[in-house]
Amino acid sequence: MKILLLSFILLGLYGFCLGAGGGGVSSSTSSGGGSMKETEDTKRLREGRPLILTCEQNATNLETKWTKDGNELVAGDHIQLFPNTTLYISTAQKEDKGEYSCKTGSMTEPKIFHVVELTLQKHLPKSTTVLENDKLSLSCQVQGDPELTVQWLKDGEPVEDTDNSTRLEMSDNEYDVPNAVLSIKPIQKSDSGNYVCLISLYSINVNTTTVVRVKDIYAALWPFLGIVAEVVILCLIIFIYEKRRIKANFDDSDSDPAQDVKNNVDGKKENDIRQRKH
Ligand SMILES: *[C@@H]1O[C@H](CO)[C@@H](O)[C@H](O)[C@H]1NC(C)=O
Ligand SMILES: *[C@@H]1O[C@H](CO)[C@@H](O)[C@H](O)[C@H]1NC(C)=O
Ligand SMILES: *[C@@H]1O[C@H](CO)[C@@H](O)[C@H](O)[C@H]1NC(C)=O
Ligand SMILES: *[C@@H]1O[C@H](CO)[C@@H](O)[C@H](O)[C@H]1NC(C)=O
Repeated sequence: MKILLLSFILLGLYGFCLGAGGGGVSSSTSSGGGSMKETEDTKRLREGRPLILTCEQNATNLETKWTKDGNELVAGDHIQLFPNTTLYISTAQKEDKGEYSCKTGSMTEPKIFHVVELTLQKHLPKSTTVLENDKLSLSCQVQGDPELTVQWLKDGEPVEDTDNSTRLEMSDNEYDVPNAVLSIKPIQKSDSGNYVCLISLYSINVNTTTVVRVKDIYAALWPFLGIVAEVVILCLIIFIYEKRRIKANFDDSDSDPAQDVKNNVDGKKENDIRQRKH
């Protein structure tokens, strides 16, 4: 009986934990941050770190005209310009962001460099679980300057409001990046899939992915129903057990008076015998 009770309590706890886990939105986490590849013509600005732009590879001594945001650059304390067509800033500052161009005598078109700020603060969780009819909210925690482009893909296809419902909404994230937050409400089973947040800024492309699982509302209900069923069974067992015990007691007390009477009779006889002996 004790073992039975204990196992029921354990099962109950297990069921409760399942229920708690299944309720609401849950998500597994993945590592934050993230390295992003720079390209030849788009460099990320890292404050306090060197910024190096090279106009022509392997050049040794070429006159180079550099501009930043349309203004001609002259070498100084902050910016060094080397004859090998390299622009060098030893400790980059926020103000060094911008569009650079360079042109040597052998080039017909200037070469353009974009020095940008771009940080993916946090990757999307590996997976995101939402209860059917709840709201799915995915936030691409990216920050950038100049304004970057965020696009959402679901299973490789752009996320669109195909059925003209108002379920889909895209809004700015906390860094004012447009479309960086994707919300779907109410979410349907068919919304489950691989969601990718595609970030692009000039020629830098970064992405972060989450697997969205939409859970049946009944899936969350099952553990609860399990607990209810368990309580009912437990009560039944206790009821039956108690009933048997009471019945057993009743049977016992039923036989007792008879025994008493018999004893009394025996006692009387004994008394009689004793009295006669006297
Ligand atoms: C620069 O020189 C290296 C070898 O020193 C060579 O591999 C590379 O292709 C050259 N790059 C250009 C743009 O000429
Ligand atoms: C260009 O010259 C500077 C100074 O001599 C050097 O630090 C740098 O590495 C050179 N850049 C290239 C691409 O050769
Ligand atoms: C959605 O609405 C647009 C106009 O608002 C209409 O052109 C389009 O056909 C609609 N699509 C569906 C699937 O109803
Ligand atoms: C996401 O980035 C990885 C590399 O970082 C790349 O291999 C993959 O193709 C990208 N996915 C999309 C949908 O662009």
